[in-house]
Amino acid sequence: MKRYDLIQMGVDYYPEHWEESMWEPDIRLMKETGVKVVRVAEFAWSRLEIAEGNCQFGWLDRALDLFHKYELQVVIGTPTATPPRWLTTKFPDVLPIFANGETFQPGVRGHRCYNSTSLREYGSRITQHLAEHYSEHPAVIGWQTDNEFGMLDCHCDACNIAFRNWVKAKYGNLDRVNAEWGTVVWSGEYSDWNELTVPLGGSPHQNPSFLLDYQRFQWDSVVAFQRTQIDILRSVCPQHFITHNFHSYPQRLDMYGVGADLDVAAFDYYPNTSPAKQATTPYSGALSLDVTRGIKRQNFWIMEQLSGSPGCWMPMWRTPYPGMIRAYAWQTIARGADTVVHFRWRSAVAGAEQFWHGLIDHSNVPGRRFAEFTQLCHEVNTLEEKLTGTTLKNEVAILHSHEEKAALDIQPQAEGFDYYENIKQIHRAVTKLGVGCDVIDLRQPLDGYKVVIAPNLYLLDEEIVRNLEDFALAGGTLLITNRSGVKTTNNIAVMQPLPGLLSYCTGVEVLEYDPIGAETHKVIDAEGNPYECTQWCDILRPVVASPIAWYGDDFYSGTPAVTVNDFGKGQVYYFGTHMEERFWSVLLERLSKQQGLFRFEGLPDGVQASVRSGDQGSFLFLLNLSRESVTVALPQEYNSLLNHSICSGELQLEPYGVEILEM
Ligand code: GLA
Ligand code: ZN
Repeated sequence: MKRYDLIQMGVDYYPEHWEESMWEPDIRLMKETGVKVVRVAEFAWSRLEIAEGNCQFGWLDRALDLFHKYELQVVIGTPTATPPRWLTTKFPDVLPIFANGETFQPGVRGHRCYNSTSLREYGSRITQHLAEHYSEHPAVIGWQTDNEFGMLDCHCDACNIAFRNWVKAKYGNLDRVNAEWGTVVWSGEYSDWNELTVPLGGSPHQNPSFLLDYQRFQWDSVVAFQRTQIDILRSVCPQHFITHNFHSYPQRLDMYGVGADLDVAAFDYYPNTSPAKQATTPYSGALSLDVTRGIKRQNFWIMEQLSGSPGCWMPMWRTPYPGMIRAYAWQTIARGADTVVHFRWRSAVAGAEQFWHGLIDHSNVPGRRFAEFTQLCHEVNTLEEKLTGTTLKNEVAILHSHEEKAALDIQPQAEGFDYYENIKQIHRAVTKLGVGCDVIDLRQPLDGYKVVIAPNLYLLDEEIVRNLEDFALAGGTLLITNRSGVKTTNNIAVMQPLPGLLSYCTGVEVLEYDPIGAETHKVIDAEGNPYECTQWCDILRPVVASPIAWYGDDFYSGTPAVTVNDFGKGQVYYFGTHMEERFWSVLLERLSKQQGLFRFEGLPDGVQASVRSGDQGSFLFLLNLSRESVTVALPQEYNSLLNHSICSGELQLEPYGVEILEM
């Protein structure tokens, strides 16, 4: 009954922004265009509840009835990201307090403290009313919780109390808190629970164990806040699915925790339209999509997709180049999106986001971008049956952790050292090789993978280490990089040679390290090929591992920079330094041969390949996400689903050209 796996197209629509007389012509055009899903209402609290307890759903009823008349399905957003003025006036505790004591004033959005009693109470009430009212509406299929959750670093009283309770629940008593956080340093010891507050003043140099727990507390606060809505929606509308639209990465959020309570994850995807970013945007976008697929390790939705020139939060970006809207939508499907909802049907004529362009401009005259969207809807609808139910099955995984990122952000390790950027670089190397890759939470089971890459495992516990060791012992190839095993999960440095708990499987010992930051140093591989490295240099003593690359300069010239260790039936690589992307490409290419990984070889720059497969067959997506036309050499004959032809030999892909080939 609950279906969120259909391959289909949607739009974000704000009936409350338009004269009611426009609704039906809009909805009729949606239908004619091939749109099947609409998301509504996620910011409409002031129209849904015009004063305390005074709910006015008539307008939304009329809109939903029209959607139903035209057979469009609806996802309703709970409106809690924009508390109305009557609520914040009457209950100012809804508003977050910044570290400097100032209030996050109403006027934009996101002005809500997740721990505020009033927000939770009134947020639950409006959610309950909406759920009861629309539970049986034939157009409604699902719910989006709030909008783009994110950290606020709120310092209000409710957060102080909730944080104190969170710490009590975790550690029990203050002696333990003092010990686990090491508050003795700089006389930071707590002797009374009332002394414990969220970090005031905003200094990044407060106790790092305390700061990390504050992040964890905030992640949990979002999950708990979302759960107040999930509980209502699950009990009132068990037949509907629940999703949340995740904001662009990287971001400070426990997306795995938020995702655990959802049926399906959704992502808001706005690839940069600038030609200057053409070399990197398609790859960071691919990573975002793989991260989203990893949230629940299943297919996902796009709840907002690039439709026109983005702007308002910054000077406007370039308008999407011809083909870009279509190609980036197919990229999301190629990487596991099922439904793709475009933001937004028409650009707003009022409000702060007038220049974050929709599919149709202010003039309300559908133009070039709309024509492209129409073609896309037609293609997606034609392939709906073939592609629905298909998934990606990858043999490589990159392990990701918001805890590692948080800890590394709290204490930057070296100039240019950035956890998520490091993941981006490795992911780009894998993607350019034509190898599919999952990006999953560090603590997930690793069965089924042949190669696992786990960068910068700064915080470690036994459980993580056992998971990694078991993977390698059973025959997996594990790649670990520097700044691993440095700390306990309480953000306390370990008193043993690095990589600490990973010393056994890596078979190396870090004798000393050199945070080289933005400097570029030299590394030479076994064949004598030169490479560059940055960020960090571990000076290594291989205990049982064998070096495969050596530093080429400075006082540690000639000593090992990268090593490999036979471990059980598998192998563990250790990167003592941040190697340039080319080194990763060469090594991963070798590993892909060694491990017999599925790979689409010979991809030109800017072209991405991925495979979705299922009962209906396997489908190879080839996407040219660049402004140049390219030629791809096909290894076999395929049936082209978009062009209804047989392809073989040299395949020409126009700028932003897309091919979907039946394998
Ligand atoms: C986010 C929000 C949308 C809109 C877009 C464009 O993704 O969810 O409401 O503001 O950004 O800025
Ligand atoms: Zn608060």
